[in-house]
Amino acid sequence: MEQSVSKDKKYSLLFVCLGNICRSPAAQGVMESIVNERGISHLVDIDSAGISGYHAGDLPDQRMRVHARRRGLELTHRSRQVRPTDFERFDLIFAMDDSNYDHLRDMANSPEEMDKVVRIASFFRQHSAMDCIPDPYYGGSEGFENVLDLLEDACHHIADRIEEGTL
Ligand code: 4NP
Repeated sequence: MEQSVSKDKKYSLLFVCLGNICRSPAAQGVMESIVNERGISHLVDIDSAGISGYHAGDLPDQRMRVHARRRGLELTHRSRQVRPTDFERFDLIFAMDDSNYDHLRDMANSPEEMDKVVRIASFFRQHSAMDCIPDPYYGGSEGFENVLDLLEDACHHIADRIEEGTL
């Protein structure tokens, strides 16, 4: 069923972090909000997943949900682990950091699948000096705000590229 939904869309995007309870569900929420605001949600299928299945079934971390809610985002995704079929279903798989990137590239079953894995940092514009979205899990509230700032920067760029047809 998931596969048939994504085939109707022009772009299918998967955001991946370690636990799928902080960064990648926030990325999903930010991206969904942007495509809704721009009226292009019919073009895009968006999901998120984790390298680890440790938090499978969980809602996003309470701290991430609080910070997202302050920006008008309700994060309701349930954590799930990345699976091999994700490399068939999605056009692009965005890694939040180098460790995620290396794991995803190792999981790919072909050069074509490997090419789908990209660093979200390559879409930063205002924060081009940053090379990843740092894991906020063991830090303070500023880390969660930083995640959202970086995601808004990258996701607006991704949405621009969707509108241009150049993603
Ligand atoms: P995320 O953050 O990868 O952004 O979801 C983390 C969530 C959980 C853990 C580490 C990072 N953990 O160690 O359980």
